[in-house]
Amino acid sequence: MDLRSPEDHHENVSPGTGSLPPRAWYATSDAPALSLNGTWRFRLSPTADAEDDTFAAAGPHDSGTWDEITVPGHWVLQGHGAPQYTNQLYPFPLDPPRVPTENPTGDHLRTFGLPADWPATGTAVLRFDGVESCARVWLNGTALGDFKGSRLAHEFDVGALLRPEGNVLAVRVHQWSAGSYLEDQDQWWLPGIFRDVTLLHRPEGCVGDHFVHASYDHRAGTGTLRVDADVQGRVTVAELGIDVATGEEVTVPVEPWTAETPRLYDGVLATAGERVPLRVGFRTVALEDGLIKVNGRPLLFRGVNRHEFHPETGRALDLDTMRADVLLMKRHNINAVRTSHYPPHPAFLDLCDEYGLWVIDECDLETHGFQAVGWRGNPVDDDRWTPALLDRAARMVERDKNHPSVIMWSLGNECGTGRGLTAMAEWIRARDGGRLLHYEGDSSCADTDLYSRMYADHAEVERIGRGEDEGPDRRRELPFLLCEYGHAMGNGPGGLSEYQRLFETYERLQGGFIWEWIDHGLAHPAYGYAYGGDFGEELHDGNFVCDGLLFPDRTPSPGLVEYKKVIEPVRIEGHGRDGTVRVTNLHDFADLAHLAFTWSYEVDGVSVADGTLPVPATGPGERSEVRLPPAPEHGRGAETRWTVRAVLADDTAWAGRGHEVAWAQLPESVGVLPPLPGGAAPVRADRHLLLGPAVFDARGTLLSLGGREIEDLRLDVWRAPTDNDNGMPWRPETPPAAQWRTLGLHRMRHRLTGVELGEDALTVRTRVAPAASDLGLRVAYRWQADDSRLLLTLDVEPEGEWTVPLPRVGIRFGLPGASGPVRWFGGGPGEAYPDTGAASRVGVWEADLDALHTPYVRPQENGARPGLRWAEVGALRIDCGADGPWFTARRWTTEQLDAARHRTDLTPGDTVWVNLDIGQHGIGSGSCGPGALPKYRLRARREQLRVTFSTAAPPAPADAR
Ligand code: GAL
Repeated sequence: MDLRSPEDHHENVSPGTGSLPPRAWYATSDAPALSLNGTWRFRLSPTADAEDDTFAAAGPHDSGTWDEITVPGHWVLQGHGAPQYTNQLYPFPLDPPRVPTENPTGDHLRTFGLPADWPATGTAVLRFDGVESCARVWLNGTALGDFKGSRLAHEFDVGALLRPEGNVLAVRVHQWSAGSYLEDQDQWWLPGIFRDVTLLHRPEGCVGDHFVHASYDHRAGTGTLRVDADVQGRVTVAELGIDVATGEEVTVPVEPWTAETPRLYDGVLATAGERVPLRVGFRTVALEDGLIKVNGRPLLFRGVNRHEFHPETGRALDLDTMRADVLLMKRHNINAVRTSHYPPHPAFLDLCDEYGLWVIDECDLETHGFQAVGWRGNPVDDDRWTPALLDRAARMVERDKNHPSVIMWSLGNECGTGRGLTAMAEWIRARDGGRLLHYEGDSSCADTDLYSRMYADHAEVERIGRGEDEGPDRRRELPFLLCEYGHAMGNGPGGLSEYQRLFETYERLQGGFIWEWIDHGLAHPAYGYAYGGDFGEELHDGNFVCDGLLFPDRTPSPGLVEYKKVIEPVRIEGHGRDGTVRVTNLHDFADLAHLAFTWSYEVDGVSVADGTLPVPATGPGERSEVRLPPAPEHGRGAETRWTVRAVLADDTAWAGRGHEVAWAQLPESVGVLPPLPGGAAPVRADRHLLLGPAVFDARGTLLSLGGREIEDLRLDVWRAPTDNDNGMPWRPETPPAAQWRTLGLHRMRHRLTGVELGEDALTVRTRVAPAASDLGLRVAYRWQADDSRLLLTLDVEPEGEWTVPLPRVGIRFGLPGASGPVRWFGGGPGEAYPDTGAASRVGVWEADLDALHTPYVRPQENGARPGLRWAEVGALRIDCGADGPWFTARRWTTEQLDAARHRTDLTPGDTVWVNLDIGQHGIGSGSCGPGALPKYRLRARREQLRVTFSTAAPPAPADAR
């Protein structure tokens, strides 16, 4: 095979031909630039060679039959062909470096003139920031070359070819190329010119490549700056009085850069022909005492994995979207990003520098699909591919090396092991000694500075934290991080608090990165958001592509709200009764001066007084004790608690003054229950049973209360399985949902075993069990009433050996015609489950019925609010006392929720369905990691639930009687 033949450039292992060596990327300089983004002419062909390359000839052009396309963009999202989603599998035969003959090929054409003031001297460079997967470029009929490496920049020298008017830029893009074998990331396959195309004037004597070395000596408080450059020039940083030649080192007192305190100094690199702005952040990254340290202090990563994604434009992101991501991260206490699994648009890294986020910059490299054939033919272990791997490493490092936020390079993701990776690591170390190296896929850690894993369970992480792990000696000396954990698919992830405790307990555990930032659901007219299979793909991985902390439209999911709480950088603890609050500063660098502390005192969930809480200066890692004021006066018998909050004392770049960073609720006293209803005697009337305000049928099924219809009130154990309940085939354990369906918990039968009319109670007994099993649940509904209220005491007792956990246990019922907002006193405002409840606060909340539903892209169990004290749904009032059941209200049944595949499958009915659950099974992270921890599994056991129903005004509080 001729590796350089232009005819098969897309099918050879070469990284490409004709482009300039990679160099540092910068957004602006005083040299002119012309954006070539916008509307291009476009033609799609079914194969790489369906059309010859005459379209690329210098004009005049007849592209009259061609379509138009927006650049940056993906053609499959602009009406040409369709996207495909696979996780690990290549959607084409493993036949490297060959790709299918059916190879959608997009010819892109654009003519442009130069602005009137475009300089006549110097030269020019044409820069492509991202093209998937392989491009061949012509300008004015001259072939410039070809390239692969979709998420990396490529530049061509075009000075000699430019004309003032009528330049013809032609780009042929193949969806599939040898490069596709290196880009098997778990995401949509989205071909096209999806990042900017820019023409950059290069003046004579312009800045070439340059490397800003800015370190910080935390002992001396000084920064040392040296800017190496291809071209001699001067480096000035006015604020620091720095004015030195390139290559010259200077040391001055500075404030360091950290993600918590992202201090940047504006500077300029000036050569004879160009002035390039510099944003200098002084910081030193080191592996010291077995820990990842910056500026002498170990870090704790509160991270996320970020793919670039937008529901309409795919991986073509504008600056506003990138900024939205950074702001959302900062506002949710996230301090780190792994750019899974490729270098992001470079402007994103500018934002990380500016707002403060630690970055693991990952190379555009994944060969996961070779695992399916036992890693046979894996490109990272085949020397023929090494030049392509080195090209990718160099393009990442050279492009991004001047960002203080980037503290680690990652070789790629899930490539197995091989010599090519070692070659990359050696090259990177030689080029940049100022950063650490990450790669998760090699358990020997031969090439890395840390031990990185994905989805390890709590017990194993704890062993690693204690240093009790086995494995190569080198690895046992290294710091540990979870480059992926907390798989945020659908409802969840659960168990984050327990991971965080481990990270905060064991020094060696330096935190982790949630998988992942955003659901990749594509906007779709029929489905709301589409996922794998929705475009008729032969091979796909369904909704595994929707596993983010944000919904596709960037609305935070409950998972993000939970994560924010779990990773809050200030821990507030104490007990409301003794009036002492402990405040622990969990920042790595910042003290607490940027925060103001407030208290509020709540009586029965409503704040009756509030004020500020002076907290002394508390350095990172330190703790202070402060006293709450005396509790305000209030009536007896009420439930009371303090809420202490830490909010931003002043406006910051990423959130306004008053933005909440951390909080805690400190309970003081539990409420006293009003007397329970009783006294009324059940009576038979015609074919009904009457008890106080309630009417039952002869079999003891509640029909109405206070004249309002109640539908089908009975024991319920089923929930629409979450993605985490469904688990994944590669996990060793049988996932809960499979156990549930096998046992038949979704089709329980209720056999009436008795209806007893007592003196002051109606007792209805049933046995609830699935077909074909002798397991069952004995249920007793004991109904008591007074004139206006109805009390249910529900007892559940398992029969037989239950080894399978229950999804939920409680009652459910329908309220026909109920509408209006729901009010409740209990946990809120968002949903919570046993292992996802950290962010739930006790209070009185109000929400529309629709807002109680969490719109997971694939519908599933959602919306439970824990610890219900009381609720008002339509005309019904529910009272449960302190720390009552889980409360869920929705406008469809669990069965409808279970059957739905997309948001648009759910149409609200006229009936509101309410669940009151004594227990819910935990959520866990089983869609890719460990299931719910043992303590969160819902075992079948004796349970009791007590609820009072009424339709009148709420009962008067106890102390007013
Ligand atoms: C990891 C992989 C990610 C993603 C995740 C599951 O193995 O690195 O890219 O596939 O699993 O969502």
